[in-house]
Amino acid sequence: MNEEVKILLEEQQIITRVKEIAGQINQEYEGKEIYLLSILKGSVYFACELSKHLTVPVKLGFMSVSSYGDGLTSSGAVTISGDADVEVQGRHVIVIEDIIDTGRTLSFLMNMLAKRKPESLKLCTLLDKPDRRVVDVVVDYVGFEVPDKFLVGFGLDYAQKYRNLPCIGELVFKEDRQ
Ligand code: IMP
Ligand code: MG
Repeated sequence: MNEEVKILLEEQQIITRVKEIAGQINQEYEGKEIYLLSILKGSVYFACELSKHLTVPVKLGFMSVSSYGDGLTSSGAVTISGDADVEVQGRHVIVIEDIIDTGRTLSFLMNMLAKRKPESLKLCTLLDKPDRRVVDVVVDYVGFEVPDKFLVGFGLDYAQKYRNLPCIGELVFKEDRQ
């Protein structure tokens, strides 16, 4: 292996923050049922952790949206799949994402979902890399603002690896180390 992971956020730190966001959502959606729309595959760990701490009624949906290949930079081309059973019309939808980088993926997705007439539509991301933004996106709930580094763990991958790490870390390639 010519890469290693430098820990940025410990598991407990992440869980504490996720519980705080859940508390905020519980207050804001009191008396309503929410539809958590988890974007595969990266946000699955976050969506599961978040949903465990929600006390309002919750339904879960999943769809695939990708703008990344197996590399480290966004391809710019967004493709959507697996949304055949995703029903947003009339629902209080909260889109759950792992990380917002350039904003291309979520800007495209939120515009598309808004056209499907949800009762309300919000965006919740575990991580936000504001320095990398190319397209504006309104983000309603953010777990952590992170620096412009390539991160893995808690659902985030590099070429499909490292999603299962309980913490989040920077992926460092050996030739980059000083
Ligand atoms: P955007 O369209 O550039 O905002 O891309 C967002 C998507 O890129 C995320 O959903 C991730 O799948 C991927 N991504 C962006 N930054 C990272 C990272 O640091 N590690 C792993 N995946 C990332
Ligand atoms: Mg993603």
